[in-house]
Amino acid sequence: LSSSSTYTVPPSVLLLGPDNAGKTALLTLFERGAKPSATHTSQVSHSIELNASTDSVTKASFRNHDDATGTHTKFFLVDTPGHGKLRNVAMGKLARTEKTKAVVFLVDAAALGEQETLAPTAAYLYDVLLFLQKKATSKGKDKASIPVLIAANKMDLFTALPATMVKTHLETELTRIRASRSKGLLDSGVGIDDVGSEEQDGWLGEYGSEKFTFQQMGEFDIDVEVLAGSVLTEEPGADKWWWWIAQRI
Ligand code: GTP
Ligand code: MG
Repeated sequence: LSSSSTYTVPPSVLLLGPDNAGKTALLTLFERGAKPSATHTSQVSHSIELNASTDSVTKASFRNHDDATGTHTKFFLVDTPGHGKLRNVAMGKLARTEKTKAVVFLVDAAALGEQETLAPTAAYLYDVLLFLQKKATSKGKDKASIPVLIAANKMDLFTALPATMVKTHLETELTRIRASRSKGLLDSGVGIDDVGSEEQDGWLGEYGSEKFTFQQMGEFDIDVEVLAGSVLTEEPGADKWWWWIAQRI
């Protein structure tokens, strides 16, 4: 009975990540196609409609969203508040948004060398990845494997860690979080082979592995990639992130 007149909801891409990472600045950059506007702490989610082309001459640039020569895919880019007290707002978006095709998890690479930024950033990322892992292994109609881009922002600042170090810092911290959250399980003396599937469901990545790596999310068909960029400067800019998004919507 469905026909071409059926209203189709465009896919969504969610911008997640801790406060001050640059999510709203990135949204305004993509929206304007030029300089991002000044931002202040977000308290609500905000979504805009964009078009991405994978076949125009400017396909790899976010400035292609008003290029009329290619075939475009319409999508919603959804900004969320990063503040820890508003985590329910962001996680609610993740849980409820229909047709989420990708998650862009923005981090402040210039502050990630500090434990006080690394710890809450990784804790948030852990919750997001575990949510996505559960979604990928669920049996319901919501089952889906949603890819994650870890966008290492603020590369223009001299304290910024390169993408490879952003990756290893996060993996190390996620390993620690996983160990502490599953401590009860491991200390209970139950062998890994004896635990039920319920316990395994609460374990991020490869069950029983000593060290967490993003690659382990591949077991659930969840692709996790780390790419460096900057919202405020042209170099390295935000084109790589745009291209990553354009290929997944
Ligand atoms: P919440 O709304 O609190 O979750 O934060 P947010 O992730 O939306 O951060 P926002 O976009 O408001 O940016 C925070 C600050 O970082 C702003 O002062 C931005 O101008 C700045 N910022 C964003 N991107 C960059 C960047 O690439 N380089 C530098 N140096 N600063 C940036
Ligand atoms: Mg914001």
